[in-house]
Amino acid sequence: MQQHVLQAYDHAKEWLGQGKVASYIPQLACANSNNLAIAITNLNGEVYAAGDSEVKFTIQSISKVILLATALNEAGFDKVFEKVGMEPTGDPFNSILRLESMMKKPLNPMINAGAIAITTCITGQNKKERFEKIFSTAKLLFDDENLTYDKYVFQSEKQTGNKNRSLAYMMKSNGVFDGDVEEHLDIYFKTCSILANCKQISFLGAVLANGGICPKTKRQLLAPFIVKVICSLMTTCGMYDASGEYAIRVGIPSKSGVGGGIMAAAIGKMGIGTFSPALDNKGNSFCGIKAMEYLSSKLGLSIF
Ligand code: DON
Repeated sequence: MQQHVLQAYDHAKEWLGQGKVASYIPQLACANSNNLAIAITNLNGEVYAAGDSEVKFTIQSISKVILLATALNEAGFDKVFEKVGMEPTGDPFNSILRLESMMKKPLNPMINAGAIAITTCITGQNKKERFEKIFSTAKLLFDDENLTYDKYVFQSEKQTGNKNRSLAYMMKSNGVFDGDVEEHLDIYFKTCSILANCKQISFLGAVLANGGICPKTKRQLLAPFIVKVICSLMTTCGMYDASGEYAIRVGIPSKSGVGGGIMAAAIGKMGIGTFSPALDNKGNSFCGIKAMEYLSSKLGLSIF
């Protein structure tokens, strides 16, 4: 397996220099566009890695999986899907378009509006308590008791995240949720700022690939219905408006983030994490997609 990971690394490295690091959240522009890492965790918890696999990055939209898992666990299927739909959008991840023209609630939990909406399914006395519930899920799923979040990226997005702010106020005005919009946004921004490396991202993939069972301890970390919902939505919506092409080229349920990470769950086989901060024009990691394409084809991982 280590050989495959090294070959995927050599293959993907050819595209370093393509794509651009995200800068709409100013602090993300500090990322090193030459970073590249690939990791696989198998269902026994063994890890194979290449490149900058210890470098931590903010998980950004990969957090949508953590949020969804926490919300489904607390509020259950019906309450979560009162707030969001289950359909792909074909629009950019931060689009406001359909909140006005269609069903008023976000089409799915993998876009920004959907993730902000489902933070409201996670209750607590205050925002700290609500965030702590999400953070505990993240610690479990990344197998790291000492997980942290990047305070600078959090502040940077809080200060400049006016697109997300407008999505949230629009949803409140549509009656999707009530409560303090700034509090919901703080929880969303903080969750996006959680730091992980690509090995940890692959561990999350392995938990999903293993039906919610921890590959190391064999403990059931996520209920099977939660894994089913998450993996279905990753397949149809996980790569935003590139999900269709990604299904054809890679065909593994995956979730990307503008920090440069991609997390993939090859069902019944392994978890894969990639990291490279330069993004394509849809906001997905340029080299990460190349690595996923390579591994999917070499190891026969496409579900189609
Ligand atoms: O809300 C945002 O725009 C970011 N915190 C997360 C977006 C993201 O990762 C989209 N990913 N491709």
